Amino acid sequence: MARKIAFINYKGGVGKTSLIVNTAAALAQRGLRTLLFDFDTQSNASIWLMRLERWNKINASGAGAIYSIFDPGTARVKDLIIKDVVEGKEGEKLLPGLDLVPTTFNLVDLEGEYKPDPKRPSYAIFQEQLAEVEKDYDVILFDCPPNILRASQNGIFVANEIYVPSNPDALSLIGFTLLIEKLMRFQQSSASFRTSAMGPASQVYGIIFNSIKTNTDIEVPKMRMQLRLNQFKAQKRGCAPSAKIFNTQIRDAMVVRRAVTLGLPVSLVGTEGTEADSVSNDYRQLAAEIVEHTPAI
Ligand SMILES: Nc1ncnc2c1ncn2[C@@H]1O[C@H](COP(=O)(O)OP(=O)(O)O)[C@@H](O)[C@H]1O
Ligand SMILES: [Mg+2]
Repeated sequence: MARKIAFINYKGGVGKTSLIVNTAAALAQRGLRTLLFDFDTQSNASIWLMRLERWNKINASGAGAIYSIFDPGTARVKDLIIKDVVEGKEGEKLLPGLDLVPTTFNLVDLEGEYKPDPKRPSYAIFQEQLAEVEKDYDVILFDCPPNILRASQNGIFVANEIYVPSNPDALSLIGFTLLIEKLMRFQQSSASFRTSAMGPASQVYGIIFNSIKTNTDIEVPKMRMQLRLNQFKAQKRGCAPSAKIFNTQIRDAMVVRRAVTLGLPVSLVGTEGTEADSVSNDYRQLAAEIVEHTPAI
């Protein structure tokens, strides 16, 4: 069974997309068959990995984007997978093993225009279709927007593990508390649609500190987050017994922003500066920590 992991937080701009894209790349580089779903209408992960020119083509028609499995409802997840998505200028495959199901801006319609059948919510449709491709992967990742509305619910419903990117500021702690409340509510309302083959409902397995400046002392924010995590674990609210703050933290590095413009994961940006090397190493270490932190399914 593939490990299914959602990255989510109730706070925007904390680094969900950068973490998930670079971690997915590191997992694929370890030889794991990796599939990334982009469930954020902003399409940051899709534009990053496909580059604008390729992505513009699907944004213009909507064909090939995840929303097409809901409306018009004729596409299937298996047909939307872009194999070995990262390409060089000549179309050469730069990162075999990293596949993407992209989104375009039309995913926003899932929150409004789309009228779901109450007996078959959109996340149940997605779950059925994901089951058709799951055997082809070791890890399936879901990049989510900072809420638990319908687009996010797809990832939250099928995932077993949730990782929460966090920054050292107080708003991250507030975001975490809000996330747990919304998560618990969603798990209750979706429980009747679960099947035993899906494994346990998603819980928080880890908190990952991102974009940490070298001169910042994060001991106090980490301690506050640990206290909150312990509290939720004790109350059995949305946090797995093995949930932890990850030892690996990702440093703040300009090259992360630059990688987006280049349309490459940081590990492929090159080694001009030691910064690219060091932060790539952070992502590799994070991927290793995720691999080791196996949930007891
Ligand atoms: N480790 C990092 N160092 C420097 N900038 C970063 C780092 N991680 C993320 N960023 C930048 O912060 C901004 C928000 O990150 P992003 O991954 O898009 O967050 P989210 O998906 O949570 O909204 C982006 O401009 C991104 O390039
Ligand atoms: Mg994002």
